[in-house]
Amino acid sequence: MMNILLLGSGGREHAIARKIVQSSRCDRLYIAPGNAGTAECGTNVQLDPMDFNAVADFVLQQRVEMLVVGPEAPLVDGIADHFADHDALRHVKVIGPKRQGAMLEGSKDYAKAFMSRHAIPTARYRTFTRETVADGYAFLDSLQAPYVLKADGLAAGKGVLIEPGLETAKAHLEEMLGGKFGAASTSVVIEEYLSGIELSVFVLTDGEHYLMLPEAKDYKRIGEGDTGLNTGGMGSVSPVPFADSAFMRKVEERIVRPTVQGLRDEHIDYRGFIFVGLMCCNGDPYVIEYNVRMGDPETESVFPRIKSDVVELFEHTALGSLDRCTLEVDRRAAACVMMVAGGYPESYAKGAAIDLGAGSDDVQLFHCGTVRADDGTLRTNGGRVICTTALSDTLESALRQSYRRAEAIGWQDKYMRRDIGQDLLRLL
Ligand code: AMP
Ligand code: GLY
Repeated sequence: MMNILLLGSGGREHAIARKIVQSSRCDRLYIAPGNAGTAECGTNVQLDPMDFNAVADFVLQQRVEMLVVGPEAPLVDGIADHFADHDALRHVKVIGPKRQGAMLEGSKDYAKAFMSRHAIPTARYRTFTRETVADGYAFLDSLQAPYVLKADGLAAGKGVLIEPGLETAKAHLEEMLGGKFGAASTSVVIEEYLSGIELSVFVLTDGEHYLMLPEAKDYKRIGEGDTGLNTGGMGSVSPVPFADSAFMRKVEERIVRPTVQGLRDEHIDYRGFIFVGLMCCNGDPYVIEYNVRMGDPETESVFPRIKSDVVELFEHTALGSLDRCTLEVDRRAAACVMMVAGGYPESYAKGAAIDLGAGSDDVQLFHCGTVRADDGTLRTNGGRVICTTALSDTLESALRQSYRRAEAIGWQDKYMRRDIGQDLLRLL
């Protein structure tokens, strides 16, 4: 048995925490900084995941043997390297890649170049800087609308622009290179637009072997029918009906296997999750982006379906023996409905008292932006506040149960989309 520290504070971390504490191998679970939900799975610790020295001090003090990194920022900043580089910390099993592997998410140009080196299907692209802006305009001229512009670096999910018109695309290219996203847009990737339906594919790898986790679909826009501003995610479902076994075989053969093989060939020590955001175009998968962590809110529908002991999977991931594991997955459908604060993803209020209501114990709640106030009341503390996940024999009934539970939850200005999963039901 071991003590485990999980970094992060969202619904993803609550869903991971709930699985970790189900393991007989977990002694104490700490979550930093966590939320009011994770506090029910373990002990929240007021640590900044970006303060590696503080994280390391805590790990040594509490004899933590496993560090599970939820969000990308500490990985891109090199938290796994920090642990590998210090004698006193090297024994800690870190779930998450080192800085070089994390570049797959930290730099779009790096990710695209990696895909092209390993013949992984993705949209045709080129990368431009301020010095080559004229070439950027010419490249845009050679493409068809709409135009896809991506800040190279991390831009809090806001660095991708899809432009319908050529002139606005050129104007935005100039703005981006002029510092619209700070250092993140010193380089800009321009790529072909892919038309199709999106899918999130998750892989756990020790750098040599891998397991494919259940796939999911998330709903990114704030408005019904996928309209309005981009959000961190308004709901998710797993499995995804169009991702049948023939399609997933293509994903594995054309994308997952060459990705893991590419990491090996390039001697990149990668022990953690790979999240492949892909587009299904006429039945063929193309990578839109890599992330080096689990998705949120995909984790809230993927993790409840994992029946295997996740701590055991993580141990083998860290030790390089993932080939000894198989994954046991609940065949039922999971549907996650996210509830957000009114106004999100623009400005919104925090601190509203949340009434969790009541409902079937079969539906799980995952906290995102919640906090337990000094007086004991549960209060909103972020844009995405809480979500419900139901597992059921059909997607339709999972959605129905998840929505029924979500209806019973209330606070001032609560908002949720009513159409999560409806597009997939129409395909059935
Ligand atoms: P993110 O990088 O997660 O902020 O996502 C950007 C979003 O833009 C993706 O989820 C897609 O919906 C969309 N997107 C990115 N690249 C392309 C592309 N080449 N073609 C079409 N849509 C894209
Ligand atoms: N749900 C998409 C993400 O986590 O990036």
